[in-house]
Amino acid sequence: MRMKFDILTLFPNMFSSPLQESILGKAIEKGLIQIRTINIRDFTLDKHQVADDSPYGGGQGMVMKVEPIARAIESAKSQNPSAWAVYLTPQGKPFNQDLARRLSTRPHLILLCGRYEGVDERARELFIDEEISIGDYVLTGGELAAMVLIDAVSRFIPGVLGSVRSAEDDSFFNSLLEYPQYTRPSDFRGRGIPEVLLSGNHSAISLWRKREALRRTSLRRPDLLAKANLSDEDKKLLEEILQQIKKEQSGDGV
Ligand SMILES: C[S@@+](CC[C@H](N)C(=O)[O-])C[C@H]1O[C@@H](n2cnc3c(N)ncnc32)[C@H](O)[C@@H]1O
Repeated sequence: MRMKFDILTLFPNMFSSPLQESILGKAIEKGLIQIRTINIRDFTLDKHQVADDSPYGGGQGMVMKVEPIARAIESAKSQNPSAWAVYLTPQGKPFNQDLARRLSTRPHLILLCGRYEGVDERARELFIDEEISIGDYVLTGGELAAMVLIDAVSRFIPGVLGSVRSAEDDSFFNSLLEYPQYTRPSDFRGRGIPEVLLSGNHSAISLWRKREALRRTSLRRPDLLAKANLSDEDKKLLEEILQQIKKEQSGDGV
């Protein structure tokens, strides 16, 4: 097994179906990844298994207690002391493809999912190695965020996408968005596909794809271009595309 995910949650049932379907389901079956849900409530010591309490200082909502989280993380770490503990929180580092790739090199991730107003600050200070946000919005819990992270990270594990496919082919590889994709039929309600894709000319197809990736990134995410590692040829192509876009936008283009 190449990678292990331990998910610490109050709602383990949320994970049963989404992670068992399609590519992730197959990766689990093949033994490439292992996903274990750990119910934080099982680490409470009281009869009623209380995992949350009201905040010190007053205010609305509940806060997840530090002791059950501490015991749950310690239990997960007892199997592998170097396991990397991540807390999913809107206050964390923004999640992106580079971070997914970096996390995929760790053999064991522990993912702490918060609920309510979040977790006691001491759990973060004492047991968490890294805090990650999946976007600038607030979810009701960290479970969906953990699923997003597991999905994106698993795609980098060799074998998960099959032997010929690689996560390097997707959007964000080299900071560019992917070119448009088409499949049969070649004519849908009068709308065709770019001729070059039917030409069988691989170098022309490659050039078209590079051009469209640059064009789409320029139009939708110009911020990514600054990070892209472009060859001199790509830069020349980009210059042409930017000129073309300028023309189109000023109404001179085709
Ligand atoms: C309602 S939120 C708590 C938000 C917290 N009061 C705050 O303002 O930072 C409950 C839990 O959902 C998870 N969560 C919410 N939004 C998230 C996001 N954008 N990325 C990752 N996790 C998130 C976190 O685990 C959080 O503890």
